[in-house]
Amino acid sequence: MRYKVHAITTAALLAAVTAGMTWPHADQQQQQRQSQATKVVVYKSPTCGCCTKWVDYMRAAGFTMEVHDQEDVAPIKRASGVPVSAESCHTAQVGGYVVEGHVPVEDIRRMLRERPAIVGIAAPGMPAGSPGMEVGARRDRYDVVSFTRDGRTTVYQTH
Ligand code: CU
Ligand code: CU
Repeated sequence: MRYKVHAITTAALLAAVTAGMTWPHADQQQQQRQSQATKVVVYKSPTCGCCTKWVDYMRAAGFTMEVHDQEDVAPIKRASGVPVSAESCHTAQVGGYVVEGHVPVEDIRRMLRERPAIVGIAAPGMPAGSPGMEVGARRDRYDVVSFTRDGRTTVYQTH
């Protein structure tokens, strides 16, 4: 009897441990696979160091990065519908959306998951502490905004 109880407890424990080990891992793998399937096309200045750091950050998160260097990125911003008030350095396209500047990957994943009726999201300016804009331990508070076809911006996420 004692042995049986022990065996059941062990089995339950083993199942719990296995589940605990398997599920988060499977989730991560799935997220990684989805990101790899999602190509990010980036337009940036060839001399922009922080842009390159954001590209590396996105690649490390599992996205496939296609980078286009060009001296003047203003035309692509206008063509992509990025409001002047939301402008940053680089402009990216992913899953039919525009991503302007140093936007954290979790905001991009949320947009791709929820698929809101917006043109895209932006981290206006160059906020210190945003991905690719690490300045020592400095972390400025900043907003990622969403923007619509008519140029209206709304706070999407505060960091
Ligand atoms: Cu930048
Ligand atoms: Cu940039």
